[in-house]
Amino acid sequence: MKKSWLVATMIFLLIIVMSNCDQTSDPNVDVTETELTETETDDQHNYFPEPDKYPDFGYMISAEDLAKDYPDAEVFKLSQDYPAQKPGDDQIPDFFDIDFTDDAHWREYIDAVRDYCFEGMMAAGFDANKNQERNWYHMPFMHWGPQGTEGFSGLAKEAQISPYQLTPAQKGSHQTYALGYYNEFAGYTLHEMWGDPRNPNPQATSALAGGGGGFPVGTVIFKLLYTDADETEVDYLTNPYTIKGYVTDVWDSDNRVVKNMQLIQMDFMVRDPRADAFGTGWVFGTFCYNGKLNDGKTGVERVKNLVPVGIQYGNDPDVTTNKITAYPPLETWINPELKETKINANADELPPQHLGWGGRLDGPVDLNTASCMSCHATAGFPQSTAALVPKEAFIGDRNAQGSITKLTNVDAPEWKKYYTNIKCGTPYDVDAISCDFSLQVSLALGYYYDWKVNEDGKTYADYQKSGSTPDDDNHPEVAHRGADAHLEAHNLKK
Ligand code: HEC
Repeated sequence: MKKSWLVATMIFLLIIVMSNCDQTSDPNVDVTETELTETETDDQHNYFPEPDKYPDFGYMISAEDLAKDYPDAEVFKLSQDYPAQKPGDDQIPDFFDIDFTDDAHWREYIDAVRDYCFEGMMAAGFDANKNQERNWYHMPFMHWGPQGTEGFSGLAKEAQISPYQLTPAQKGSHQTYALGYYNEFAGYTLHEMWGDPRNPNPQATSALAGGGGGFPVGTVIFKLLYTDADETEVDYLTNPYTIKGYVTDVWDSDNRVVKNMQLIQMDFMVRDPRADAFGTGWVFGTFCYNGKLNDGKTGVERVKNLVPVGIQYGNDPDVTTNKITAYPPLETWINPELKETKINANADELPPQHLGWGGRLDGPVDLNTASCMSCHATAGFPQSTAALVPKEAFIGDRNAQGSITKLTNVDAPEWKKYYTNIKCGTPYDVDAISCDFSLQVSLALGYYYDWKVNEDGKTYADYQKSGSTPDDDNHPEVAHRGADAHLEAHNLKK
């Protein structure tokens, strides 16, 4: 088949589909093309869900504009061939030998996790589908709703960055967008959960009776976080690693524009059995980009400018130091009381960090009164039963810039609960099913059932094939189902 024909067909189809992609959350979206799945031809530009495949993204510019303005741009493809077999123990990463609890060795551990995540990824430009060394997968259904993923890089809209959160010069507020990658072990759990697109199984991440056991030992999940802030306000974003995103112009907006997004942070979580001793089972870690260390690096090599911030494998429930670093962070304060967080003390490489409550681990774009583990331990389905951040995180004294300097409600039971240690695969709230510390799992399940209510239980592929609008088929009697009905069907509702 001639390439020019392929391109022409592709562009024609893209025009049709993108009017849909651009409005994923609109229940009145009109889909008239019925043969998308039969006629798709080009792998690289395969936007269209095949039967029983999940959509690659939710928002993208028109095909015309793409061809005209970004002729060399590739389009994001969700890595979703989740493995049906759990990998053997021989595939457990080597760093499972390094003692992360030891002050002399945690740095070796975090560096090794980084290397593991980068292997094959740097050559592939962080395109999971092109990694020749190791399989990585993405969470399905992150395309749905106003925060849904975009089509250049697969980035989901994640969080707002407050003024002064990063540096004293950062007067404006900015946005964070992110993409997560799941290794083969984690991919197996995604298969158990999402393998049947007609009936995802929320129990896959539960370690309680009747559940799938949660993410297996050997699981590594990492996430790259990008911001629309740049070196004009954030000095360490000089010599940036930049990718394109079709993102909202500002946080409180639905209007999408093409922007350059700068890598600012990399997060990971590892299901490491040695963390069981701390009552959690997970090791979290994070890195901050520092372009001042660039030293001539270009292109994808610049991801090596990510500097370890620290790791966290528990919430240190007994440490009640009521201190935080207010915005803007001027130096990285390290709390010597903490036993379950380790922080990089080398100020020559690490830009000043605000960290989280009492100095627990948190990244530059994260809230300074929370912490990685306390927030992630809440992950459940439905998530609505647990706040990602309890209200106490926002009650306290404030500085001239309006940012919190000291919390005042730290004796509240909800606050204490937020900093207890919860075992992997067990729910934070008894009414929810554990998403095993994965907040993308809880979000994606929530999005799925939101979509299901709107689309009357059809899969995306059914919906495209039928050529009908959701309104045509929507039966009023099912309009209020979704998550609840699914829980009932699985006899999970208490
Ligand atoms: C206040 C809540 C909050 C805090 C604090 C937080 N996260 Fe997250 N994290 C989220 C949410 C929500 C998501 C899912 C949305 C997304 O990825 O865009 C997420 C996603 C992730 C993922 C992708 C895997 C998954 O399914 O959850 C990783 C890995 C991760 N975070 C690690 C970290 C690390 C490491 C830290 C600390 C440096 C951290 N997070 C701090 C809320 C939080």
